[in-house]
Amino acid sequence: MSLVLDPAAQDLLFREARTANTFTDEPVTEEQVQAIYDLVKYGPTAFNQTPLRITLVRSAEARERLVQHMAEGNQAKTAAAPLVAILSADNEFHEELPALFPAFPQAKDVFFSERAARENAAGMNAALQAAYFIVGIRAAGLAAGPMTGCDFEGVRKEFLDDDHTPLMVVNIGKPGADAWYPRSPRLEYDQVITTV
Ligand SMILES: Cc1cc2nc3c(=O)[nH]c(=O)nc-3n(C[C@H](O)[C@H](O)[C@H](O)COP(=O)(O)O)c2cc1C
Repeated sequence: MSLVLDPAAQDLLFREARTANTFTDEPVTEEQVQAIYDLVKYGPTAFNQTPLRITLVRSAEARERLVQHMAEGNQAKTAAAPLVAILSADNEFHEELPALFPAFPQAKDVFFSERAARENAAGMNAALQAAYFIVGIRAAGLAAGPMTGCDFEGVRKEFLDDDHTPLMVVNIGKPGADAWYPRSPRLEYDQVITTV
């Protein structure tokens, strides 16, 4: 009763949404990815820095190169998913800040002149955006399979550069046969929430 979001949407985004381990062959189109991005780009980040960058791995040749860097248990599903995305944090996001945060364009120099400060902020805020992206995939009626089981340094060298830190690889598509493991329990309210 306290949630204003339509119950069907609550189920689609959370209660019935699962992490998929198998997928059908149905392609994920550019239009779907565009619609997902155009929705989740509004998720908040500090100073509106939006450091998430997304590399869509579409060609068979690139997919093969990526699979080699995945943990053994993640290889088959990464090879078979209709679409795979590499999510990374742009540690040079500050270059866009004056345009992205016009209310305080000096933020670029005041807070982010040091690389270490940028890496710290980019990691945190890109991770937030990765979560928005996963929920956006669900909003498109698709399932996500996020993975951190990979050789990140290998992924970075193969697909990115020194200014980008890979965060996770996400398989995307319609869930296939036996797509999920049994649902694991979640912590209950009283285990997580304290009030002071
Ligand atoms: C950041 C992140 C990294 C994950 N890495 C892996 C992985 O490397 N391999 C894997 O099989 N599952 C991975 N998972 C899947 C989680 O185990 C799964 O999302 C969680 O158990 C909840 O499953 P459910 O959505 O089906 O309830 C990852 C999930 C997240 C969000």
